[in-house]
Amino acid sequence: MSFVKLRVVDHPLIAAKLSMLRQVTTSSPVFRALVEELVTLLAYEATREVRVEAHPITTPVSTTVGTRLSHPRPLVVPILRAGLGMLEGMMRLMPSAEVGFVGMVRDEETLEPFTYAERLPKDLSGRQCYVLDPMLATGGSLGGTVKFLVERGADHITCICLLAAPEGIENFDRLMTDLGVPCTLVVAAVDERLNERGYIVPGLGDAGDRLYGLAD
Ligand code: PRP
Ligand code: URA
Repeated sequence: MSFVKLRVVDHPLIAAKLSMLRQVTTSSPVFRALVEELVTLLAYEATREVRVEAHPITTPVSTTVGTRLSHPRPLVVPILRAGLGMLEGMMRLMPSAEVGFVGMVRDEETLEPFTYAERLPKDLSGRQCYVLDPMLATGGSLGGTVKFLVERGADHITCICLLAAPEGIENFDRLMTDLGVPCTLVVAAVDERLNERGYIVPGLGDAGDRLYGLAD
């Protein structure tokens, strides 16, 4: 049984924006704007099951019953650095959500993620969590982050990625099965494969570098 429910969002606007994002000639400012737009489109799909409650409202004409997000507020978790580029586009759709942070960097030799920052609420039980990272390559960074959430009691987790590799999805599913927690993975596209350096093919290159410039 698979613990990861994969949702590939098939939409012509997403496909067109993603193609511009992949282009090697796309500049950082345009790349950042496209990432924000893409995450807003994906978030619309990814938040279909966000918990809401009814509450009374007054229109200029009458009273009626409105809808608002329930408590506890959803938690959005961008994986630094590249996930930060997705935060604004997500918060635009869900401004009352709260934000937790995980900083991870992949060792480019071993492809293992290293955690350098973590600022999350201690208790995530009953909390809907939305993890943001543009790239799911080997799945190590996403898997490590989701493990932090599960250790704090999260049991409703949705991950939003722009691109995923089949190998990474498989590894991530194995981890979620071991943790025994179901998870929804929303992506704009599943690419062909990983290359020998662990990069997604055809991919878009190093997402963090394209958003913010070379780190090393
Ligand atoms: C990238 C990306 C993911 C990770 C994916 O981050 O944003 O977090 O690689 O690779 P994985 O699935 O094999 O773990 P990177 O480690 O380059 O850090 P950065 O965002 O700071 O550039
Ligand atoms: N991280 C990236 O930023 N891009 C890839 O293709 C793989 C990992």
